[in-house]
Amino acid sequence: MKLKVSVIGTGYLGATHAACMSSLGFEVIGVDVDAAKIELLSASKVPFYEPDLEDLLQKEIASGRLTFTTDFNAIADVDVHFICVGTPQKADSLAADLKYVDAALDAVAAICKPGALVVGKSTVPVGTAARLRERLLKINPGADLAWNPEFLREGFAVEDTLRPNRLVVGVTSDAAEAKLKEIYASNLAENTPWVRADLPTSELVKVAANSFLATKISFINAMAEVCEAAGGDVTVLAKAIGYDPRIGNRFLQAGIGFGGGCLPKDIRAFMARAGELGADQALEFLREIDSINLRARQRVIELVRRDLSDNLAGKKIAVLGAAFKPDSDDVRDSPALDIAAQIAAAGATVTIHDPKAIAPARKRFPALGFSEDIEGALEGADLVLHLTEWKIYRELDPAKMAKLVANPIMIDGRNALDREAWIAAGWKFRALGRAN
Ligand code: UDX
Repeated sequence: MKLKVSVIGTGYLGATHAACMSSLGFEVIGVDVDAAKIELLSASKVPFYEPDLEDLLQKEIASGRLTFTTDFNAIADVDVHFICVGTPQKADSLAADLKYVDAALDAVAAICKPGALVVGKSTVPVGTAARLRERLLKINPGADLAWNPEFLREGFAVEDTLRPNRLVVGVTSDAAEAKLKEIYASNLAENTPWVRADLPTSELVKVAANSFLATKISFINAMAEVCEAAGGDVTVLAKAIGYDPRIGNRFLQAGIGFGGGCLPKDIRAFMARAGELGADQALEFLREIDSINLRARQRVIELVRRDLSDNLAGKKIAVLGAAFKPDSDDVRDSPALDIAAQIAAAGATVTIHDPKAIAPARKRFPALGFSEDIEGALEGADLVLHLTEWKIYRELDPAKMAKLVANPIMIDGRNALDREAWIAAGWKFRALGRAN
């Protein structure tokens, strides 16, 4: 008999995890307190853009294995409960807000059967899992709790969930590990590396990985600042250092930096937690990583000012991209949208295009201008900003685009466009970390 699974919290992580678990043949019930979200998911609709997820969801719901509900009583006889709720940054500090995780634990503890395993997947400050386990055992002594961090990237959520590059399980018993091995049997059959850890290490793995990625991005953006000062080219520098296999060429794309629902808040929550543990000195460098990252946004705005004689009032600026990265409609802490809003606040008339993120961007900044087509955004523009590297922007014809704008000035905030082609078509071309 296959184990029965619940997934508590049906955002990016939970909705994807639920559909993927179902595709592995488990009976899965997704639970969320947001009735509107459950209604959409039950109708096979994904409330956000994630390639391949809607197709998978449709297939799994049709199979009868996957259902969604707001009723926690519906998951009482489940064997393994995955907690996938959000841990956003607190409004008044750098720390993570654990109210959703705590509420999910309490809800599941009240109804789960003896022998059930509760598995946390949310990103939490180290120490949370042990605290939650104690709380669970107090309410429900027959249950157990493990931690199993998730490393999925938005835009590749289905692929990363079905074929993770490693599985990390924080457990306190062989029985809990054995149950998780049953869940991930198909990955183990494909030789996916399996790392057994204690609870705190499993929590730390996640924030350490995201801190490392953030550091890599801010490192190359710091090099971009030096390149600008010295007349060098950061794209050539990144290519050259990336050939060293110890360094590698991934996550060395210089530009306006990292954003999204994970990297920024995870490094901040990590610093806050280290402070509580008396280890704040160890993570002081992350403060600098955060500053370099936020500075990249200001450097783009400086380039804009330089090209428009330091006067943005009344200037028409086209912005290509609002999502925090391509293949996503997520605008949480998006560098692109932040820059667009700052330029508008300085008096420019901003028109934003994005293939998927216009609706969430408009919800966040209703006063900004938006265009469903690229031509509409570029029409009569004094300057164009390329801020999210969607493939369609790389495929634009610079000569055709030049005819639409008032001034052919392109600032490539992602170092992703073909500079020579744009210059050949008559554009003044600027980019971070290159001679401008
Ligand atoms: C990240 C981690 O990659 C993932 O493992 C974790 O579980 C969740 O957080 P995600 O937020 O989906 O995933 O985005 P990611 O692909 O890591 O990109 C983060 C940001 O860094 C984006 O804004 C992206 O544009 C930026 N970035 C990435 C760069 O600026 N340069 C790079 O070279 C790579």
